[in-house]
Amino acid sequence: MVPPATDRAAQLFTSTYQRPARWLGSAPGRVNFIGEHTDYNDGFVLPFAIGQRTAIAVAEEEEPVVKLVSEFAPGEVVEFPLAEVTSAAVPGWARYLQGVVVRLVEKGVRVPGFAAAVASDVPAGGGLSSSAALEVALGSALEGLSGSRLDRAELALLAQWAEHHYAKVPCGIMDQFASVMGREGHLLLLDCRTQEVQPIAWRDDGFSILVLNTGVSHSLAGGEYAKRREQCTLAARALGVASLRDATLEQLTSSRSLAPILFRRARHVISENERTLQCAAALETSDWERAGALMFESHYSLRDDYEVSCAELDALVEIAEQLGEERGVLGARMTGGGFGGSVIYLVAAAAAAEVQALATAAYERRTGRVSRSFITRPAAGAGVQELA
Ligand code: GLA
Repeated sequence: MVPPATDRAAQLFTSTYQRPARWLGSAPGRVNFIGEHTDYNDGFVLPFAIGQRTAIAVAEEEEPVVKLVSEFAPGEVVEFPLAEVTSAAVPGWARYLQGVVVRLVEKGVRVPGFAAAVASDVPAGGGLSSSAALEVALGSALEGLSGSRLDRAELALLAQWAEHHYAKVPCGIMDQFASVMGREGHLLLLDCRTQEVQPIAWRDDGFSILVLNTGVSHSLAGGEYAKRREQCTLAARALGVASLRDATLEQLTSSRSLAPILFRRARHVISENERTLQCAAALETSDWERAGALMFESHYSLRDDYEVSCAELDALVEIAEQLGEERGVLGARMTGGGFGGSVIYLVAAAAAAEVQALATAAYERRTGRVSRSFITRPAAGAGVQELA
């Protein structure tokens, strides 16, 4: 058995720097149950934190320098003076971390020179927010080291800032909020306008989420994500609302001037916000069939109106439809930004392992690709512990 990321980060710290770490920050990846491409439209999302975490072991350095090592770049220690943090040239994986340090310093947090070691169980490029987990894990570790505890929303927004400015991905707030605020046994209904979080209990142990990776790596930095954001802004402007959160389907259908493509983009966002609220209500009353049906509808809308799916994501959803309720599959949809990444199935817990075997075999027959998959339920958010 491979030890968990928390153990590996501490071991990597010791083997790299020849001394033990002092603090261990860790943060989970996330699955979004429903509410896709709504966060940057001031809308609603319903994610939850998964059990897989990214862990970062840190300790203070005597000199004002930053040293970073990751198990994904073995043997490569990135080092720069703390005073040069804003401009230091670092490899891609370290930019997320650099951005977090820059923002903490800007916020007046006293960050000392430090060494860090990164390990992660969140698969990269799988649509499970490995980048948010990385940012939030470092933010948490440095909270321990600096002795300043940030407000939870502030930590999430700081991580999002790092993603915008240092990874150059214009993401919304969902991933970082889910990673920071995840709560065991709960989904988070997040109002992205007010940033209010309402925990929604996963009420029934009889159901689980099966996560199936397409094996197609998505890249949000690729222009499509930014293009969707831009189209939403244009659609909101044409409808005369501050953001698509404020528009209704009636308003949309009665508008005459909207270009067909903007109409479809807006229809996805407006209907997805409704589905997300309906889904939260269904989960509150344990109406799992309704929640599953809403997941399928969400997927079709993302595929047809928003056009962020791909053949592999669609294949996994079609396999879910074929397996159907008789096999214990109630719903399925792509999760995350799209263009690859993962699909989630809502499954009866007793049938989950069998569905996993059937679905991965069917996917391989159909696409020639191997799907890495796991069964999960909502897990805890970010945290930090003192090691010594
Ligand atoms: C990515 C972004 C999120 C969100 C989703 C789509 O995961 O990081 O902010 O926009 O895509 O729902």
